[in-house]
Amino acid sequence: MDRIRIVGGHALEGTIAISGAKNAALPLMIASMLTRDTLTLENIPRVADVGMLLQILSHHGVDYSVDGRRPGDDPHASRTLHLTARDIVDTTAPYDLVAKMRASFWVIAPLVARMGEARVSLPGGCAIGTRPVDLLLMVLERLGAEIEIESGYVRATARNGLVGAEIHFPKVTVGGTHTALMAASLAKGHTLITNAACEPEVTDVADCLIKMGAKIKGVGQSTLEVEGVGSLSGATHSVVPDRIEAGTYAMAVAMAGGDVLLERASPDHLGSALEVLGQAGAAITINNEGIRVRRNGAGISPVDVETAPFPGFPTDLQAQFMALMTKAKGNSRITETIFENRFMHVQELARLGAQIRLDGDVAYVKGVKELQGAPVMATDLRASVSLVIAALAAKGETVVNRVYHLDRGFERLEQKLGRCGAVVERISGSN
Ligand code: UD1
Repeated sequence: MDRIRIVGGHALEGTIAISGAKNAALPLMIASMLTRDTLTLENIPRVADVGMLLQILSHHGVDYSVDGRRPGDDPHASRTLHLTARDIVDTTAPYDLVAKMRASFWVIAPLVARMGEARVSLPGGCAIGTRPVDLLLMVLERLGAEIEIESGYVRATARNGLVGAEIHFPKVTVGGTHTALMAASLAKGHTLITNAACEPEVTDVADCLIKMGAKIKGVGQSTLEVEGVGSLSGATHSVVPDRIEAGTYAMAVAMAGGDVLLERASPDHLGSALEVLGQAGAAITINNEGIRVRRNGAGISPVDVETAPFPGFPTDLQAQFMALMTKAKGNSRITETIFENRFMHVQELARLGAQIRLDGDVAYVKGVKELQGAPVMATDLRASVSLVIAALAAKGETVVNRVYHLDRGFERLEQKLGRCGAVVERISGSN
C-alpha cells in the first residue's frame, strides 16, 4: 500500500492547476446510460473513482474510450472520455462493484428510466455516517417505480416507464437530486422538484442533461421543473473545476503560508469557504486565471464554522478546515450538520499534537503553537487530505498511510504540492 511522506515547515509558492470535479464527473458518466448515443466528457480528473466507475458502467454495456495525448498536451492534463451505452446488457449492479463506491448506486436512475427495471446492491463507500438511500428510493417511487428490497439488493421496476410527479425532499440531498433529474428527464410528463440541492455539481449535471435534450427549468435553484422527453441524445460537455480540490489547496496555503494561484478555480463555487478563509487570515484575490491565496507570517485566526448545503460551508471541506484550525491563535468550534460520524480525522490529527474535543456533532478545537510530525492513517477521502494539510505545517516528518483513500479523489496531490515547494513524496509498495 502506498504512503505519503511529508516534511513540514515549507511555504507553498507557485501555481496549482485545479482538475475537473470528481463529484460532477461521476454522475455525468452515469448520465451516459440515459442515451444510445455517445456522451463526450472533457476535463475528467485522473482519480481512482473514475476508473472504478468505468468498470461498473462497462458491466452494464457502456463502451468507452479515452483520448490519447495530442501534440503539445500537458502529459498530466485531464482526460476526455467518450461513453456509449448503445444497449444496456445488464440491469443488475452487483454487490462487489457497488460496494467499492457509493455513488455507483446512482446507476439505478438511468437503468429504471431507460429499461424499466434495475436491481442494484445497497451501497458501501466512505464510512461517514449511515448514509441511507431512502430519499433516492422515494424519488423513484414518486415517479411510479415499484421498490422492493431483497437480499441486500434494491429492485426498482416501472414496466410501462416512469411518470412525472411532485417530489419534495425533506432534506437537501445531492445524490437524490441527481437521481430525480436523471429519472424525470425520461419520465412521461411534468416533474416538480422542491428543496433540491443547488451544489455546482448538480448544476453541471443539469447543464449536460439539457445539452442531451432534457427539458429542465430552474437550474441552480432549489426548485426544478422537468418536462420528460421520449429519448435523449449524445452531447459534449466539459466537467466543472473541482471546488473541493480548490478549497483544499487554499487551506493548505493558509496553513503552510506562501502565495499560490489556483488555476481555473471558480470563486462562485467556493462562496462561504473563501469568506471563512479570509476571516482566518488568508488574503484571497480573484483574477481571470483563478483564485490567488496568500498568507504571510501573521498567524491563523480562529473562526467558527457550521457545514451546510451549498452555498454554505461544504462538509467536504470540514476536515481540511479543522486541520487549519489546529494551529489557530485561539479556540474555534466546528459543527457538522450534514453527516454524523464525519470526525474520523480527529484522532489522527491528535497524533500530530492537535487538541480537539468532540461533543456530538461539534468539534471544539484549541489552537496549538506547534504540531509534530507522526505516522498517521488515512480513513476516508477528505479526512486523509486534512492530515496532509496538518503535516505541511507540522515539525518534522509525517507519513500518511493508506493513501488509496486520497487517490480516490485527489489527482496527483504530491506532484501538485511538490511543484509549489512542499517536501512531499509517495512511497510505493506493500510494506
Ligand atoms: C455527495 C458527495 C459528497 C458530499 C455530499 C454532501 C458525490 C459523489 N458525493 O454525496 O462528497 O459530502 O454530497 O455535499 O457527489 N440522505 C438521506 N437519505 C438519502 C440520501 C441522503 O438521509 O437517501 C442524507 C445523508 O445521510 C446526509 C444528507 O442526506 O445526511 C446529504 O447527503 P447527500 O447530499 O445525499 O450526499 P451524497 O449525494 O451521498
